Amino acid sequence: MTDVRESMYLVSEFAKEYFHKTLLNSEEGKAIGLSYFKERGFTNETIKKFSLGYSPETWDALTKEALGKGYKLEFLESTGLTIAREDRPFDRFKGRVMFPIESMSGRVLGFGGRILTNDKKAAKYLNSPESDIYHKSKVLYGIFQAKQSIAKQNNCYLVEGYTDVIQFHQAGIENVVASSGTALTPDQIRLVNRLTKNITVLFDGDAAGLRASIRGIDLILEEGMNVRVCAFPDGEDPDSFARKNSHDDLVAYLEENSKDFIQFKASLLMKDAKNDPIKKADLIRDMVTSISKIPDRIQREIYTQECARIMDISEQVLVSTLSQLIQKDI
Ligand code: CTP
Ligand code: MN
Ligand code: MN
Ligand code: MN
Ligand code: MN
Repeated sequence: MTDVRESMYLVSEFAKEYFHKTLLNSEEGKAIGLSYFKERGFTNETIKKFSLGYSPETWDALTKEALGKGYKLEFLESTGLTIAREDRPFDRFKGRVMFPIESMSGRVLGFGGRILTNDKKAAKYLNSPESDIYHKSKVLYGIFQAKQSIAKQNNCYLVEGYTDVIQFHQAGIENVVASSGTALTPDQIRLVNRLTKNITVLFDGDAAGLRASIRGIDLILEEGMNVRVCAFPDGEDPDSFARKNSHDDLVAYLEENSKDFIQFKASLLMKDAKNDPIKKADLIRDMVTSISKIPDRIQREIYTQECARIMDISEQVLVSTLSQLIQKDI
């Protein structure tokens, strides 16, 4: 570990504690930040578990506090907490509720900060910039709080957002991490792979969520992992759905609606155009493409059988299409 990175970790840890204390103890933090979290249904225990915080409206509240404690401007800047301006450096995060992003071992790598309104014009979340300690394509929000449960349950729920992770914990489901709105990457999947071979994708019930789920499937299969998908009703995300339903109903919903990727893709066609032969052919090709990503030959065979059965097509045709795709790969 270089000294530079160690210093960046230390100032990030300081910022996490500063934002957390400001949320719980300052008048502004309580009136604005804490009441926002309470409205979203977060308990004190949850706020503590995820070290949620609040960054004041002031121009340079954190920067000043940190400099006063002896942290160097250099590291405030390289972590993106402070934005350089020759005469008067200022805080990146102002007037936002703060979500610290932690590594598998619990070190603070960066932050997401949410505005307090639902103003569609303003960017809802502001995140730390890429830095020597924060590579957004390599982190999963919530992995530190989830890792034990992921290993124990031998499954990991993958959601899009910070609040989805948090609301699931409150509902008693702790094996959950978020890709934080970025397109899922192989590095993120490999983090989960250290804990379990099974991922259930739970993306938002909207067009973007659906697209992201479909992209995610092939990436997860390529890593040799098993993927299931559970879709949410239109307009719902795991956070909103968990809030509207009891723990038992949520668990039942997840159980009843999680499908393997063949069933999931087949269900999309049923909605779309059940009897359209061209669409059906496209979907079958798409399924075979996904199957071709699976490294294990026996698993490929099992999914090929399932695809043939569900789509009512001969296995032979699928096998020859599949072998063409795999040849191309080699
Ligand atoms: N995101 C982001 N920047 C944005 C919008 C989204 O970084 N401008 C990331 C955040 O990590 C967010 C995730 O993408 O949690 C999912 O986005 P979205 O579904 O729009 O937000 P929610 O998590 O549902 O947030 P909320 O419930 O607070 O509206
Ligand atoms: Mn690096
Ligand atoms: Mn969304
Ligand atoms: Mn969402
Ligand atoms: Mn949401």
